[in-house]
Amino acid sequence: MRAFLREDLEINIFESYIIGARTFCIIKDGEALLIDAVLEDELVPYLKEKGVSDVLVLLTHGHYDHILGIPELQKAFSVRIGASERSRDILSDCRKNLSAFGTMINEMRRKKAPESSPRIVVPEYETSADYYFSDREVFAWKNHEIRFIFTPGHSDDSMCILMDDMYLFAGDSIADNGDPVLSLPGGKRNVYEEYSRPILDSLIKGRYVFPGHGDEFMIPLEGK
Ligand SMILES: [Fe+2]
Repeated sequence: MRAFLREDLEINIFESYIIGARTFCIIKDGEALLIDAVLEDELVPYLKEKGVSDVLVLLTHGHYDHILGIPELQKAFSVRIGASERSRDILSDCRKNLSAFGTMINEMRRKKAPESSPRIVVPEYETSADYYFSDREVFAWKNHEIRFIFTPGHSDDSMCILMDDMYLFAGDSIADNGDPVLSLPGGKRNVYEEYSRPILDSLIKGRYVFPGHGDEFMIPLEGK
């Protein structure tokens, strides 16, 4: 875990041993807001130590590497889950959320980066959300404004989660090292290029961007 600190906001970042996916955690008044719920070992003990009882998980999309941490959270806390209305079918289908292929994907990655990808069997996993959000819907958590912006292409249900018009949790719609993966089942390059890329290009300027894998970054506004 490591912390991103900015003024009165602390975002703790937890990285999974499944293809480096990340959970972002903000705690306020005994409640935790999580962006995605990846499989790793530190988050549940950390939330317990902080006295958290309620957890809200907001999902950037339904792919397995971003949701496999949900069962461990549900064992320990009262958990609510929010997702895109387009995630409904994906969360509830282990082939669409790719968990059915997770072991194979992990093995392919192990061949490229064995030190960062331990040999694991990914369980077939299906779940559902408590809330389903529409494009551009705005949601309040504590004193934070959270806006959901659909950015399909990596998957049909991909969306960015924009907090306080400043912190952009981009899921797999943005990679920190170039183009996102657009070739998985359900991915659509033409939709990404024509619809989502212009939205993302304007969204990332002047904001802190947190990709679902890789490090956060900030592209300053022109002229600053
Ligand atoms: Fe993904």
